[in-house]
Amino acid sequence: MTFDDIVSARHSVRAFDPARPVPPEDIMALIEAARWAPSACNSQVWRFIAVTDPERIRQICAQGMGPILRNKFMRDAPLIIVGCAELDIVANKIGTKFTGIEYYQLDMGIAMEHIVLKATELGLGTCWVGWINEENLRSTLGIPKHVRVMALIAVGYSTETAPSKRTRKPMRKILYADQWGKAFH
Ligand SMILES: Cc1cc2nc3c(=O)[nH]c(=O)nc-3n(C[C@H](O)[C@H](O)[C@H](O)COP(=O)(O)O)c2cc1C
Repeated sequence: MTFDDIVSARHSVRAFDPARPVPPEDIMALIEAARWAPSACNSQVWRFIAVTDPERIRQICAQGMGPILRNKFMRDAPLIIVGCAELDIVANKIGTKFTGIEYYQLDMGIAMEHIVLKATELGLGTCWVGWINEENLRSTLGIPKHVRVMALIAVGYSTETAPSKRTRKPMRKILYADQWGKAFH
């Protein structure tokens, strides 16, 4: 698969085959892809928990979701990757004090999308899940207080047909030339 193939094949999958586990070597390959992501000051704040125990997955679904949107589809995912950030003093305290930018949030997004793209290459379906209850996930998974829980990725073999159409804003809405609002031709 070329990079463009992977980008266009990736879509959010919300139906998984619960009887088909993700092989451990594929889990390692996903995290290896994250490990090579760039990060502010090379701080590598990412920590991942690969949850495959069905009872733990049930607990994540029961207690770890945000209000109203319960993301019930996750119950059938054979793997949930929990994306955590263990903050770094230089990048995340000193750097942020000067610029106001929360670099760890950028770092986590990059690394977790590496996982998603690698999963696509391996024939696995994924869905980002950001509608979480951080505090409940901390207690369910024994995550220490100083660690941020940023998002989950549900991973598994898809049982749904790929969407025939996905919507995106047109290029003119997201790309400007030289200054804000100037059309790029
Ligand atoms: C940070 C983030 C959080 C998301 N959280 C959820 C979620 O909690 N539940 C869900 O079903 N989809 C979630 N999504 C998936 C988006 O809804 C999806 O990416 C978007 O609608 C575009 O569709 P596509 O991924 O198929 O291209 C999330 C995506 C991102 C990047």
